[in-house]
Amino acid sequence: MSSESDKRAAAQAAAALVEDGMKVGLGTGSTAGYLIAGLGERMAEGGLSGARFVATSFGTELLAREWRLPLRQLNDADIDGALDIAIDGADEIGPGWELVKGGGGALLGEKIVFSAAERVVIIADGSKRVARVGERAPIPLEVVPAARLTVSAKLESLGFDVTLRAAERKSGPVVTDHGNLLLDIRTTEPIDAVALERDLCAIPGVVECGIVVDVATDVIVAEDGAVTHSTQPGE
Ligand code: A5P
Repeated sequence: MSSESDKRAAAQAAAALVEDGMKVGLGTGSTAGYLIAGLGERMAEGGLSGARFVATSFGTELLAREWRLPLRQLNDADIDGALDIAIDGADEIGPGWELVKGGGGALLGEKIVFSAAERVVIIADGSKRVARVGERAPIPLEVVPAARLTVSAKLESLGFDVTLRAAERKSGPVVTDHGNLLLDIRTTEPIDAVALERDLCAIPGVVECGIVVDVATDVIVAEDGAVTHSTQPGE
């Protein structure tokens, strides 16, 4: 079973959690793309009456518009800064559900949407499970342009390898939906995800970091066609 089939299977399981009238945060990336398609199909068939959606990125907004999902902003009156559920992929999922996010550059929008959601559902194929976060994926940081060098120097002094994320079909760096830059950092040292998230976000000029801890309420992983849905106690 390809990882694309598994991504789709995890996304479909999560799409089934969305009900009429819900306020839903839509993640970013290929797995979230399958979710948006699944929700769009349900709407096209006349389902999900009264549901409305908040996108985590411009890319997700475009895709959701193609599927004619009713989009809102978190600040809109009928959202009022609160979502019933947010559903998103991840670059890595650690054993304690610590996550690396931001491979698609949308970490700031994703973490804002997570902060508004009562339930945060992470969807992935089995390749995203890791023994420790940072093992394979770099950890992204969104940084204001004026602080690129000061933040890089601080990160290097802490022992990280730092790469400014380059754009692929444009000369120069990736510029995020919020007008900032992305630094991708790596270390071979073991990571304390809670302390690292706190410490990275405390560096002046860092807007957000791609580590997410104590946020996911559900993890849905599909591996070789078998879907496993785990929930935090009490969910
Ligand atoms: C977007 O910024 C990321 O956090 C994505 O959620 C993550 O990269 C997962 O993407 P895929 O579903 O494409 O693997």
